Amino acid sequence: MKVAVLGAAGGIGQALALLLKLDLPENSILSLYDLASVTPGVAKDLSHIPTSVKVDGFAGTDPTPAIEGADVVLICAGVARKPGMDRSDLFNINAGIIKNLVTKVAEVAPEACIGIITNPVNTTVAIAAEVLKAAGVYNKRKLFGITTLDVIRAEDFVARLKGLPAEHVRVNVIGGHSGTTILPILSQIQGVSFTEQEVIELTTRIQNAGTEVVEAKAGGGSATLSMARAASIFGVQLVQALLGKQGIIQNAYVDGDNPCSPFFTQPLLLGTKGIDRVLPFGELSPFEEEKKQEMLSILHADIQLGIDFVNKDRVSEAVK
Ligand SMILES: NC(=O)c1ccc[n+]([C@@H]2O[C@H](COP(=O)([O-])OP(=O)(O)OC[C@H]3O[C@@H](n4cnc5c(N)ncnc54)[C@H](O)[C@@H]3O)[C@@H](O)[C@H]2O)c1
Repeated sequence: MKVAVLGAAGGIGQALALLLKLDLPENSILSLYDLASVTPGVAKDLSHIPTSVKVDGFAGTDPTPAIEGADVVLICAGVARKPGMDRSDLFNINAGIIKNLVTKVAEVAPEACIGIITNPVNTTVAIAAEVLKAAGVYNKRKLFGITTLDVIRAEDFVARLKGLPAEHVRVNVIGGHSGTTILPILSQIQGVSFTEQEVIELTTRIQNAGTEVVEAKAGGGSATLSMARAASIFGVQLVQALLGKQGIIQNAYVDGDNPCSPFFTQPLLLGTKGIDRVLPFGELSPFEEEKKQEMLSILHADIQLGIDFVNKDRVSEAVK
């Protein structure tokens, strides 16, 4: 398996590359790409860690050599939040970056699974889908918005609140990946009960956890290390599923034929071709059902923004 990381010299990218070097199956190829000239050096640095994963690094404006032959492309290229910004403030810069990189993936590795980390994920995944459709290579079983960070945060916060080992808590987080579109389904957690107040406070904390990190880093960026861990969990599980391991379930933001929304985060059974089956997100409490209904108009607007971004550009290119 070849896994490409685009944006590999950044805060997330370098930590993600380290974790993939350690955790990808034996003899995988890890291919790093970033505009930053340090990228081949990051690859050289990682290559001195004695695992059988082979690491290559590419810098400059053309990602082609990094993407060629990739089975999985993880994209964390873009700008991150500073205090006072929400994820939608990143749209103007990151939308164009995603459009250009996914255009290249469509051309060079049209069969690859694509995992998008770059925010705002609610919108960048819709942009990627439109680009792939325009190139005639869209396969909804192979495009993912990586929302694993919401899951691991939820698991950690629940474990701390209830004094449980964090490794054993499982939380289903559905919806999207910003603010109130992040919906942890606390009512489904086995063997744990919450007061109404705890549900409200935990839900709000999980929804705003990214901002906790942005404020604590005080201008130094957003979550990088926890995000790298989240993306490596998702990436390694996806690779294992592509290699034929059975029974792998991960939540991600996908085009899953969900009547709620064209893209929605929910549990997925992964397989040798990407998504094997989109799983139901299960029963919701009345509180969760209300929050799900409330988020839908935000989610739909975020998705439409992405669709319009690509199609507006196509119209103006056609006029030129
Ligand atoms: N999905 C999530 O849960 C989640 C969580 C945290 C951050 N993020 C997002 O991930 C992205 C990256 O965050 P970061 O903290 O690593 O940022 P960063 O600024 O540290 O790194 C971004 C990297 O992208 C590179 N880059 C920019 N444009 C590029 C291009 N066209 N091609 C290749 N590389 C390019 C930059 O050179 C830089 O090395 C941001 O959009 C951030 O909002 C997502």
